[in-house]
Amino acid sequence: MAFPITRHRRLRRTAALRGMVRENYLHANDLIAPIFVIHGQNIKNEIPSMPGVYQWSIDRLPEEIAELREAGIGAVLLFGIPEHKDSVGTGAYEEAGIVQQATRRIKELAPELVVIADTCLCEFTDHGHCGIVHRVGNEAIVDNDESLEVLVKTAVSQAAAGADIIAPSNMMDGFVAAIRQGLDEAGFEDIPILSYAVKYSSAYYGPFREAAQSAPQFGDRKTYQMDPANAREALREAQSDIEEGADMLMVKPGLAFLDIVRLLKDRFDLPVAIYNVSAEYSMVKAAAIQGWIDEKAIVLETLTGMKRAGADVIITYHAKDAARWLRGE
Ligand code: PBG
Ligand code: ZN
Repeated sequence: MAFPITRHRRLRRTAALRGMVRENYLHANDLIAPIFVIHGQNIKNEIPSMPGVYQWSIDRLPEEIAELREAGIGAVLLFGIPEHKDSVGTGAYEEAGIVQQATRRIKELAPELVVIADTCLCEFTDHGHCGIVHRVGNEAIVDNDESLEVLVKTAVSQAAAGADIIAPSNMMDGFVAAIRQGLDEAGFEDIPILSYAVKYSSAYYGPFREAAQSAPQFGDRKTYQMDPANAREALREAQSDIEEGADMLMVKPGLAFLDIVRLLKDRFDLPVAIYNVSAEYSMVKAAAIQGWIDEKAIVLETLTGMKRAGADVIITYHAKDAARWLRGE
């Protein structure tokens, strides 16, 4: 009698069989490409810790937008570096703010491209915190409710510029409810909120803070971003955001938090996004440049793993490359 009876390898014998029983697929549709925009002319600045990722001036956006569309990417997430920073993040909500200008330009260039605006203050405040700060002695206190007012103004100005989705990343309590109400009152009741519901205080944001010039000038973000050791707290964050009117939930960072994606996916019925953040990208790039890994295989395996964990959409700096690889380029 032949042994073993159960032979898992039967369905792995050929590429056709493996394809037939494959459970998860990556699609370019599911990928969101972050874009950094900066004031000035003729700027395409590579971010040293993120090879292949650039800060773009608005006049040069057409190049990047054309490439993304050609690759089949359907959505971008905008981050802006303002000309001037101040203590209350004025640049976040000005009509001529960098994100507002870029949004208008992209909607002209590619009306069908989904423009997602990151709603936060850290790129626009001189202290680099995500809200309004009061200093008490040596301590920086981020005032939750005062921050909400500025964040609402920011979200409304982004929607007014043409943003298709508002994605608040500030981690203040009540931000979804406040922004939902602000958007509705301004006539933007059809603009969805993609909440950075579960955002951990993470070392994986390091390269992003270089790219967006948004590192906190004192203190850290631990009083508003989550402790990476916690999982049940993620359920509370997601629950309150849903009650406040979030349309989609995000987990961030990605790789070290795939269990959290699965938790949210099993517990709630909203689409779940995952943010494959800057340092996750930088580590892959660094190893690829050394010739130590097969970049394409590693990236596709990682992104597929995020789908398998339950992510419906993936925000990733690899978006353009991944979309091209998926087309067999
Ligand atoms: C702003 C924001 C950050 C990221 C996205 N939005 C940085 C932070 O919270 O410090 C990180 C993205 C990345 O690392 O790629 N609040
Ligand atoms: Zn922030």
